This record gives sequence, structure tokens and C-alpha cells, in this order.
Amino acid sequence: MDTHAEWETIHSAREWGKWPRTELNQFLTTLGAKQKFAGSKVLDLGCGNGANLWLMGWLQMECVGIDISESAITKTKAWLDRMEISATLAVADMRNIPFEDNTFDVVTDVCSIQCMPTDDVAKVFKEAHRVLKPGGYVFTMFRSSSSWLEPNLPYVNRLSRPELTNAMSPFTIEATEVTEQTLFNLSVSIQHHLIVGRK
Ligand SMILES: C[S@@+](CC[C@H](N)C(=O)[O-])C[C@H]1O[C@@H](n2cnc3c(N)ncnc32)[C@H](O)[C@@H]1O
Repeated sequence: MDTHAEWETIHSAREWGKWPRTELNQFLTTLGAKQKFAGSKVLDLGCGNGANLWLMGWLQMECVGIDISESAITKTKAWLDRMEISATLAVADMRNIPFEDNTFDVVTDVCSIQCMPTDDVAKVFKEAHRVLKPGGYVFTMFRSSSSWLEPNLPYVNRLSRPELTNAMSPFTIEATEVTEQTLFNLSVSIQHHLIVGRK
């Protein structure tokens, strides 16, 4: 599912996750051992309610977020204002990122590109590559093809690692991991690829 109307229906009807994902924190702090991200300009793709921008603002990154849903952007703005974090926000489609080439130090994707149909995944990574400065980082958290899929999440795509790294082919892959969360007494396993690429 990738249409504006469908996401607007979800975001206007209910709250999305308010807490930053631990996996994003892992990326920022692990890489932070050799690179400090404070002051880096970051673009968060599909920022939802702004939970991950909140973390990156707290880490003193210069925050920019886009989402296809107006309600998501309105809620992100309200939340970041409340947390006294400044950010540039825009309603936009990540397949056509409305920023100049070579603008960002970091592009983050926390489970948003995985909502694209397979044919569009490579297109989004190509856009992410375009707006990154040379040497800039992309981080993606993307549902693995071996993961269980909740029946109420028909819009989540799943790819194998070769399929995903192939879609990220403009980048040099710097790190690749898989995280696992089990549910219902270990009876199901939700797995995400965590991949860091560099332009
Ligand atoms: C699964 S949610 C993840 C939200 C957020 N990254 C988080 O971790 O809470 C996917 C988000 O991507 C947004 N989205 C879906 N298709 C999009 C598109 N084509 N362009 C920009 N945002 C999109 C949705 O509105 C939604 O906020």
C-alpha cells in the first residue's frame, strides 16, 4: 500500500508509534563511534508521527522529514514543537524527494520503504542516493522475506537480503544485520534487515 489516501486514513484515525526505534539508535550510536552525527543533516523518509526525528533532534542532528500523509506531518510538527525540536517537514512522496542533489549527510528509513511495491523500492533508494552528499549514509530497516507478517498489515512488503541489497545497488553496503522479535511464546518471528549503505 502506497497511496496517499490509504495512509491519510490510517494517520487521521489513530496514533502511530510515539517511541523511537531502538534499531535506529543502534545505527546512530554504533556508527557514532567513528562518526559523530551531531550537526549532520538528516532526511527521515516516511517520518510517521515523528518519533525517530525526535531521537535524531535530541542527538542534535539537523532534522528534515517527509511523509505522504498530511495528518502524519501535522502530528509530527505538534510532537516536535512540544519536545522543542526544530525540523523542516513536508508532505511528499519518497519516490520523488523534493530536495536538491547532494543535500543530506544521512537518510533514514525506519520501516517506510518496505511499504512500497517491489518495483518502487529501487526507485526510492535511487532518490535517497541522489539527495545524499558524497560519503553520506543511508540506513534502512526493512521486513525480511523470512519474517512472519501480521494479517492486518497487508501493505508491508518483504524482501530477501539479496533482493534488498540489489535495490540498494547505487550504495556501497557498509553493514548488514537482521533483528528478530518473537511473539506469542516464540511461535512467530518478526525479522527486519538493518542495512547501512554509503554513497
Ligand atoms: C510503517 S510506517 C513507519 C513510520 C515511521 N517511520 C515509524 O517508524 O514510526 C510507514 C510510513 O510511510 C509513509 N509513507 C507511505 N508511502 C509513502 C510515500 N510514497 N512517500 C512518503 N511517505 C510514505 C506512511 O504515511 C507512514 O507514515
